[in-house]
Amino acid sequence: MTVVPTKTALEFVGAATWSALSGRPVTSDFFDNVHEVPHVRIGQQADLVVVAPATANLLAKASYGLADDLLTNTLLTAHCPVVMFPAMHTEMWEHPATRANVATLRDRGVLVVDPDSGRLTGYDSGPGRLPEPEAIAWIVQAALAKTGLSPDLRHRHVVISGGGTRERLDPVRHIGNRSSGKQAMSLAAAAVSRGARVTLIRGDVDVPTPAGVEVIDALTADDMLAAAQGLAPAADAIIMAAAIADFRAETLPDSKIKKSDSSTLTLNLVHNPDVLATLVAQRSGRTPLLVGFAAETGDEAGTWLEHAERKFAKKGCDIMVANPVGHDRAFGADHNEAVLLLGGGISEEIPGTCKVALSHRVLDAVVDRLV
Ligand code: CTP
Repeated sequence: MTVVPTKTALEFVGAATWSALSGRPVTSDFFDNVHEVPHVRIGQQADLVVVAPATANLLAKASYGLADDLLTNTLLTAHCPVVMFPAMHTEMWEHPATRANVATLRDRGVLVVDPDSGRLTGYDSGPGRLPEPEAIAWIVQAALAKTGLSPDLRHRHVVISGGGTRERLDPVRHIGNRSSGKQAMSLAAAAVSRGARVTLIRGDVDVPTPAGVEVIDALTADDMLAAAQGLAPAADAIIMAAAIADFRAETLPDSKIKKSDSSTLTLNLVHNPDVLATLVAQRSGRTPLLVGFAAETGDEAGTWLEHAERKFAKKGCDIMVANPVGHDRAFGADHNEAVLLLGGGISEEIPGTCKVALSHRVLDAVVDRLV
């Protein structure tokens, strides 16, 4: 990793710190170490250039192709994908000059990730906040995971559900499904890295959300259904990676269920709505592409793949991502294997790989089917 700070960045963190952390010489000036031609070589040799934070000034300089320091020279010589994470006050982010510069950069293939909304420098609050480091790291990982990354989902709205639902039993207890949310976050990061507008319907998750993602929190199956139905008319694709509990309590008491002398407790459960099946049933006119996940174990009635094929036929979605699960398989892991069921008897095997790479394969199939 090579750190290329601007002169202003060095006001915040000094060159010695950057150099110690990266293990490389650090400068903002292209007149240093001229024999190594760093103003050309760094960009030429990079696999990815990440600008974080990208100020209004940097966005303007990059959009006009100015080259007055090592960073702007690096941007002009980079052959690899470039990802920028803008951070500035809301007025600056919303100013027509910045909007025009962002549009120019995006037209040129630069990935400019929308900033977070929240506390800014001083007492101000609003859109323009730099996302948290883990949220930025998701996008960097996703951008590095695909060779020939391109903004092929730009102007597309991709909705992703993820995490498990928590169905309340009483004011202090719930039942739910196991899910870390990693697969959904990987999909969201991969979709952002391809230029999509991404909305995450977020259940109970263990991992941070990637930068540039709009979030709707939905902890129950009913909330997920309402969110998905609200977003469906304007979405291009909905990917249901959430682990939605199939049952919820028939009644919800106002007070805690007390321990009784009986050694058993009987709960009456009722079926939750099937979000994916409902979206399929309500298809009309311009509908989003619908992608389901089938996390299966094999049993005496069939292998995990046979179960997934039956589920694909039953649910009627456009693509089904089938993957084997077990007590220590897939849940919370960084890696996953899958078979993409694409309809008409066509399937595609994705051997064990990281969840971000698997997500890109799923999105490749989505891009192929979007008209
Ligand atoms: N799903 C859904 N609504 C539910 C349950 C599941 O939309 N109430 C979606 C999941 O997000 C996933 C797909 O349906 O995309 C398959 O989920 P899965 O839990 O594997 O299957 P179920 O339909 O719940 O069937 P079963 O538990 O009997 O295998």
